Amino acid sequence: MSTLISLTGNGEWAYRLEEIAADSHLELEWIENETKLFEHLTAVAGNCVVLLPNINFVDVYSICSKISQSFSTTPILFVFESKDGFDMKRAMRAGADDVIFLDNHSSKIQEDLRHAMNKRDALQQKQPATQKNAKVITVASTKGGVGKTTVAVNLAVALAKQSKRVAIIDLDLQFGDVSLFLDASPRRTIYDWVKEDQEGKRIEEYLTLSKQGISILAAPQRPEFAEVITGNDVRRAIAALKPRFDIILIDVSSHMGEIGIVALESSDEILVMTYMDLPTLKNTKLLIETLVLLKLENRVRVVLNRQFTVKGLSINTVEQVLGLKLFATLPAKEKLMTTAANAGVPIRVSQPRSRIAKNFTNMADVFVRTDVRSSKKNPANIVTHAGGHA
Ligand SMILES: Nc1ncnc2c1ncn2[C@@H]1O[C@H](COP(=O)(O)OP(=O)(O)OP(=O)(O)O)[C@@H](O)[C@H]1O
Ligand SMILES: [Mg+2]
Repeated sequence: MSTLISLTGNGEWAYRLEEIAADSHLELEWIENETKLFEHLTAVAGNCVVLLPNINFVDVYSICSKISQSFSTTPILFVFESKDGFDMKRAMRAGADDVIFLDNHSSKIQEDLRHAMNKRDALQQKQPATQKNAKVITVASTKGGVGKTTVAVNLAVALAKQSKRVAIIDLDLQFGDVSLFLDASPRRTIYDWVKEDQEGKRIEEYLTLSKQGISILAAPQRPEFAEVITGNDVRRAIAALKPRFDIILIDVSSHMGEIGIVALESSDEILVMTYMDLPTLKNTKLLIETLVLLKLENRVRVVLNRQFTVKGLSINTVEQVLGLKLFATLPAKEKLMTTAANAGVPIRVSQPRSRIAKNFTNMADVFVRTDVRSSKKNPANIVTHAGGHA
């Protein structure tokens, strides 16, 4: 099946168009409004045919111009009831490829749709192969509420600001809240992808684009759907996204099962989150020991979150207990962080000058420097300090 997308319209003509598309074995998806249309086009990298029906109150010529400027290889077809009211000159200037007149015979409309799909296929094939090979970064902790999601989303935003194409996979499959932290409303999730796209070829269609330009493979809408997803699905999802992004961030649940292990094993970098209290430090030590058993210790970077002065517990003590140097420290900023989480706007966006936002930028800087891991002189545990002790 191939994909046609159209701005939603009501009425007989919409049903007719749907029937014609189905007869041609083409999938037709209706999109609510212009904003959602652009989100969809970004998610599928323009790989579809756009139908622009001449609906009341919508300036199809202007939408067409915007699409053709941003997605030059996407065929655009106007849909008009008849030749009345259609302005050929404006359509050409706006960059439209063709127009469908609904008073034509169905076979003629089918032919126009097929022609557009063929053009799309030819144009997409001509695109230079710009395959990427994303760096995979998992944010982990074996204790809940230590700041995994906070770090994942802020790091994602900081990396996107450095013009990196960034995806987040929300592998907190039961209670994931990455979308909430980024004020995004996923229509499809990893659950839908696993159910519907066995070959993994269309994974873009299951991503949700956040306002900050982050592509989210969201956690299932309901906790019970999590059971369907296997470690192998996670491996497939990472493999499908790697050629399409520069960075893939993975937010895992603090319950370390098969899904979490697969994420860790697939990662180039593992950010282990910790706090300055003994129960959390004890848990962190156990996680690090597990990572040593899995032979993943070279990928570990420890992030101390909510840092504040604690009597009898210095940063040196933390490093001694864990046997690792800290990669970054993040200050405790209760009010700022709660406001950010409630508004769905990461602190890196809402307060870019704050110290904590700068720490995220510094962490991102380390990850975009490609040589950090490859240099043998720079063992993973003694890494560039991204946060700065207070
Ligand atoms: N440095 C910080 N200062 C103050 N509050 C913070 C800080 N980091 C995170 N928080 C807050 O702590 C809470 C838990 O953070 P977050 O949801 O990121 O943790 P988590 O590890 O993902 O939790 P879970 O295990 O439940 O998924 C959130 O309300 C967040 O705003
Ligand atoms: Mg979380």
